[in-house]
Amino acid sequence: MSNLNNKVAIITGAASGIGLACARRYAQEGAIIIGLDRNRTDAWSSFEAATDACRFHQADVTDADAINAAAAKTVEEFGRIDILLTAAGIGEAGPVNMLDEDTWDRVINVNLKGTFLSIKAVLDTMMAQRSGSIVTVASVEGLNGTEGGSAYNASKGGVVMLTKNIAIDYGRLGIRCNSICPGFIDTPLLHEVMGAMPDFKKDVERETKMGRFGKPEEIAGAACFLASDDASFVTGHSLVVDGGYTAGHSHGIVELMGLV
Ligand SMILES: NC(=O)c1ccc[n+]([C@@H]2O[C@H](COP(=O)([O-])OP(=O)(O)OC[C@H]3O[C@@H](n4cnc5c(N)ncnc54)[C@H](O)[C@@H]3O)[C@@H](O)[C@H]2O)c1
Repeated sequence: MSNLNNKVAIITGAASGIGLACARRYAQEGAIIIGLDRNRTDAWSSFEAATDACRFHQADVTDADAINAAAAKTVEEFGRIDILLTAAGIGEAGPVNMLDEDTWDRVINVNLKGTFLSIKAVLDTMMAQRSGSIVTVASVEGLNGTEGGSAYNASKGGVVMLTKNIAIDYGRLGIRCNSICPGFIDTPLLHEVMGAMPDFKKDVERETKMGRFGKPEEIAGAACFLASDDASFVTGHSLVVDGGYTAGHSHGIVELMGLV
């Protein structure tokens, strides 16, 4: 039996990267997929064409009316919302003295307020059902600081904390809420960052103890577990999926000793 058989899952940021990998995995596990993104991509269109139980809403997560309408349409058509995965996000930032207010507002609005609005859009339905699993996509940069991270780290730290508060406020109503904190995952967003920083790939691969970037499918595996009944007693958790990036520092000792 599949893990997510007939569960109705709304996924934001579904048209690319981590959101798309989660949509594919959830669909493989038997879920009905409601994708939401500000853009429809060719990759999403191919997925949609190959998937029967699948819908798409072109919407911005900062637009409460648009997300509420997508949630209402989902309930009208499928009668329930079992899973919300919030993957819509952007990666801009910079040291604070160089960061303009518009960039700060944009990053906080999409990454943090967008998560808040997406959760708010499904809560009434999940409360009435007395069940639901919310999986937010935060980041290891929501747990630790990063050089130049500022707005991005603040937004993701906010997502980690919002997740815990949702778990506290709605646990007795049967709703679980967990975040995934990915390390560096090979997606269009990461390529955008890499384009601006020539040594970035080498640095990250050195600090990631598995010695490579993660794949979006490796985040989807964790997202599948958290959404499923296998995680029925897991809530308020931040699951780090980072190939050991945050495990600690390496200083070349294992190379010196001939271990690798
Ligand atoms: N790739 C990484 O290394 C990494 C690491 C940690 C966390 N994350 C987080 O994972 C999430 C997914 O990122 P990704 O790497 O898959 O990037 P991506 O750019 O491939 O996908 C992000 C998707 O979100 C959509 N989106 C952006 N702003 C939106 C908005 N306002 N409304 C609706 N949709 C919007 C984009 O159109 C895109 O389809 C983001 O929240 C990102 O911060 C990524």
